[in-house]
This record gives sequence, C-alpha cells and structure tokens, in this order.
Amino acid sequence: MAKAKSSSSGETVTRERLAELLNEDLSREYQAIIAYVVYSQVLKGAEYMDIADQLEIHAKQELDHALMISRQIDYLGAMPTVTPKPVKTSKNAKDMLRFDLDNENETVRNYRDRIRQCEALGEFALAEQIRKILMQEQDHQIDLATALGIEVPNVNK
Ligand SMILES: [Fe+2]
Ligand SMILES: [Fe+2]
Repeated sequence: MAKAKSSSSGETVTRERLAELLNEDLSREYQAIIAYVVYSQVLKGAEYMDIADQLEIHAKQELDHALMISRQIDYLGAMPTVTPKPVKTSKNAKDMLRFDLDNENETVRNYRDRIRQCEALGEFALAEQIRKILMQEQDHQIDLATALGIEVPNVNK
C-alpha cells in the first residue's frame, strides 16, 4: 500500500483514507447545497437581495462540487456517501450568512489539506480538480464576508 505524508496535518494518507476524507468533503457539499437552497429563498430585507441572488448561484456550484467529488471517490474505488453534515437554521439573516461563512471556512481549510494529500500520493489530476473547487469556495467566502461587512477570515493554521 502506497503511503505518503501530507505536509500540513502530518496525517499519513493512503488512497483508502483519502476516499474517506473526500466523503467528509462530500457531506459538507450536501450541507452547503441544502443551506444555500433554503437561505437563498428565506433571506428577507432590501439589503440582502444581492446576496440572496448570489446564494442561489452558490447552491448550483455546490451541486457541481458534489458531483465532482463523488466522481473522484468512485475513481478511488469507494462508495460516495449519501449523508449531509447537519444544517443550522435561523430566522435571522446575519446568523444565516454567518453559518454559511463558518462552513465555507471549514471547507476551504479542508480542501487546502486535501490538495496537499492528493499531491503527496501522486494524485495530481485529483489535486487539480480540487483546486478548481477551492477557487469557487474562496469566492463564496468573499461574497459572504462582503455581505456581512467583515474581512475574509484567514483560515490558514
Ligand atoms: Fe462546494
Ligand atoms: Fe461553497
């Protein structure tokens, strides 16, 4: 079994472990789809109209991510999960945007690790796919931070 050390978390990943971690990522993508489907429709108030439209775009991009990650899990010989991470709800617009931003931060942190782990395993095409997803996740962070009127959080450890 080929083993490689990832540079950031220090975790030794095998292809099996990488598939497990990608299934965690897939659960986060499902969570994001659900959150954006709901929040984009229930966000009320003139000041939130622009971000509500952006959240609708995010929802579709998260579905694309879920499809890409699912394909990569299948490529690694594992079964893609069907379970989302829990989705928080609130009637407060700022809370909803905050939950989304927290989730995006977690997602960005994980995909940065995943790229290192893929490269350590010599899975360069997989790393490239995740880089494309990561670019959109960082855009989501920017959209949400801008709507909240805050700086984009630095999620590097
Ligand atoms: Fe995503
Ligand atoms: Fe996202």
